[in-house]
Formats: sequence, C-alpha cells, structure tokens
Amino acid sequence: MQAAARAYTNIALIKYWGKKDEQLILPMNSSLSLTLNAFYTETRVTLQQSLSCDEIIMDGKVLSGHSAEKIIRFMNQVRDQSGNRTYALIVTNNHVPVASGFASSASGFAALAASAARAYGLDCSGVALSRLARRGSGSASRSIYGGFVKWMKGTKDEDSYAVPIDPANWGIRLVVVAVNRQKKKISSRLGMKRTVQTSPFYPIWMKEAEKDLGRMEQAIHHHDLEMIGEIAEANALKMHATMLAATPPFTYWEEGTLTVMRRAAHLREQGIPCYFTIDAGPNVKLICSVEHVDQILDDLSDFFPLEALITAEPGPGVQFLEDPIH
Ligand code: DP6
Repeated sequence: MQAAARAYTNIALIKYWGKKDEQLILPMNSSLSLTLNAFYTETRVTLQQSLSCDEIIMDGKVLSGHSAEKIIRFMNQVRDQSGNRTYALIVTNNHVPVASGFASSASGFAALAASAARAYGLDCSGVALSRLARRGSGSASRSIYGGFVKWMKGTKDEDSYAVPIDPANWGIRLVVVAVNRQKKKISSRLGMKRTVQTSPFYPIWMKEAEKDLGRMEQAIHHHDLEMIGEIAEANALKMHATMLAATPPFTYWEEGTLTVMRRAAHLREQGIPCYFTIDAGPNVKLICSVEHVDQILDDLSDFFPLEALITAEPGPGVQFLEDPIH
C-alpha cells in the first residue's frame, strides 16, 4: 500500500514534438533521448482510506491548481487500471542543482508511474511502466530507462513505449547552461499543439524526425560522438523552425540561448567537438566528450555565472526505493 521510486530526467536528442492522440499521449514521431544523472525526482505513494481526494506534497508544499489536476488525472487512470478506488498521499521531491531552474515532468511522471504502479499492485515491467508514465507526460516514457533510450511512437496505447538502446557509458557528457530559470510562458503541451495545428513545416518535421532517428541510431551504434552531436543539433533546429512558422508564431529562444549556440560554433572552430540541443525553453544543453568538458566550461564562464553551468553524465533508469529518504 506504499511504494517509492526515483527517476532521472532525460534530454531528447531526437525530439518528440506533436501528438497524434492527446488523450492517450501518442506521439506523431518516434524520439530518442539520453537519461541524465544530474536531475531526479523521488516520489512516495501511500494509499490512505481516510482521504477523500489525492493529497500531493511537492518539494515540501501542498500542490494545487493545474499541476495538481494533471497528477490527479494520472492517478485516476491508475485507479481505473487497478480497480482500487482508494486515494493516496503523494510526496514528491525534485532534486535539481540549486539555481538550474529545472523541474522536469519527465522524471516526475516516471517516478510517479513506478511508485503508483507498485502501490496499487499494477504490472511493474519496463514496458508497463513506460506506457503508464507516457500517460502523464510523453517524455516520461523514456525516463524509465537509463542511457540512450528510444520511444517508439507505435500506433495505439499498447505499442507506444520506450526501449533502452545503449548504456551510454563511453564518455558522453552534457553541459547544461541555465539561461533563464523562469517558468516558460508556453508549455510544451500547448506549443506542440499549436505547431501541429498551424505550422506548414509540420509535415516536413515528421519526415525529417524519422530520418534523423535512423541516422542517430547508427551514430550511437558506432559510438560516433561528433555524428551524434551533428544530428541532435540539426534535429533541434528543425523542431524550433516549426514554431517560427506557426500561427501565431513563437519561439523559446532568448538572447542567452543564441549566445550559447554561437559559443558551440566557436568552440568547434577551435577544434573542440561541442553541439547544442534545446527543448521547449531557453536553456541549452551542450553535447560533448568527457575530455572537453573543462575547456567548454572555461569558455562559457566568460558569459554565464558558474552556478548556471551544470555538467551531467548519463544516468540510470527508474529505481524502487526500499527505504525512501525525502
Ligand atoms: C521539446 O513530454 O513535456 O522536450 O507529453 O505534453 O507532457 P507532454 O510533453 P513533454 O514534451 C517534451 C517536448 C520536448 C522534446 C522531448 O523531450 O522529446
């Protein structure tokens, strides 16, 4: 009746951008990510007969409003699947480096899926957890596994889930540059919806994403870090281009975003392989090899405070916690 789990966030190298089914969260395109060790969420779910609704405590505060509704909707699905109508106390803590501004729905819903599945007695296999996490947030389906992970878009609820493809234990690093820690004005959910509905570039995005995915799998197979970086950077740019062509148009980029993009180009000119990727926000992640991290940090420290620069290693998959410490 009680279970706890920890899940790490992930960064997409081939982006998920657009839903085919908003209810089931089925994506328009398959995607591929790297799970990171630097940011994680721990969640404990305790079934309590005395409760008349779910109670959610996030980072020490009672959660209400839109974020709480999303979690309650998710818990209702868990109750539907298990046939157990009992409400739960959900205590969840995000472990993100101070000042990074990253609160991740990927790690959040992966940790919630695992702890809720176990507490309500549902199937806890990787496939089942990935499918369940997907119902909370698409990108959460990938945080069930560590290393490089592919989310196969599938055609229906049963076959849209993530699979691990490589442990990523051969020297890849991500330097996260926190450009702005404010909450973004357009959520990824709204941003992708507007893009699917209005961007004339969207059909091209879908074709390109599938092509990029195939090439990325080859690059990972060959441990070719430069190729991984090149494909990831191009894929992120294509995703962001779809938004500029949407109605009304929008972008998540800020001045600082462009600064980091230019630094990546500059570092490459200096012979340091370093490539950016950007999600639905202004922050930038630089893909590089462990031996170049110091030079990259040194370059960026002329433009950003040190606390805005976080180096992440590949992280593990979801873990059940026997003796949860919050
Ligand atoms: C740009 O998984 O946050 O980060 O499924 O609506 O919750 P919902 O969206 P979410 O979108 C992530 C979008 C992205 C790309 C990615 O992570 O693949």
